Amino acid sequence: MPKILHSPQQKYLNQFRTQNDELITQMEKYAEENSIPILDWQSSDFLEQLVLISKPKKVLEIGTAIGYSTIRIARLLNKNSEIDTIEKSKDNIKLALSNIKKSKLADRINLLAGDAFDVMPKLEKKYDMIFLDADKEDYENLFYHSVKLLRKGGIVVIDNLLWHGYAASSKVPPKYKVSTEHIKKFNEIFMGHRKFKSTIMPIGDGLGIGIKIK
Ligand SMILES: C[S@@+](CC[C@H](N)C(=O)[O-])C[C@H]1O[C@@H](n2cnc3c(N)ncnc32)[C@H](O)[C@@H]1O
Repeated sequence: MPKILHSPQQKYLNQFRTQNDELITQMEKYAEENSIPILDWQSSDFLEQLVLISKPKKVLEIGTAIGYSTIRIARLLNKNSEIDTIEKSKDNIKLALSNIKKSKLADRINLLAGDAFDVMPKLEKKYDMIFLDADKEDYENLFYHSVKLLRKGGIVVIDNLLWHGYAASSKVPPKYKVSTEHIKKFNEIFMGHRKFKSTIMPIGDGLGIGIKIK
């Protein structure tokens, strides 16, 4: 697989990694052992910084998986702030609920079970931050729903926009061809959207950050 960063630079940056939360470490190990894709550590650190800077009162996450990024966001929220997180996989919902219970942050996390395409149109709140991390072929449509739910000045964060490096590669294996085309089309829409000031950060698997300016 192509890499986003050259190995020496990645190796150099890895030495600065600090993680001493037991539950977070356990969840990383579980995800690794069970091939569950969760946000990589550098993107997670950056997402946490965005939470600290923007102090969102209401966060929406699309794609909970086992609750890893949910808990990383929730533990930095101020009092009276909350995160709604949408997940459609029954197995993942079970795991996420168990991890949320262990995190003792259940009072600020609302797990919305179901398909985001059904759940999002029913949401009535406006969000200060939306983290989109679902199936890549759905990004375009889920982004349109997100635009409606994000307040002006809010931040949208979207993972995997460099898609293992394939978004910028001329050699894409057959298995990744369709998903890569979806990501490339989505990136054009995201970066050209008139309501957003957007950038794609070359960290992790490529993290899109968009501020809603209109
Ligand atoms: C990449 S994982 C999320 C990882 C998680 N955000 C983290 O970093 O810890 C994607 C998750 O999105 C869920 N998902 C994909 N499409 C969805 C949809 N349309 N509605 C709800 N959940 C969806 C999948 O079941 C999967 O658990």
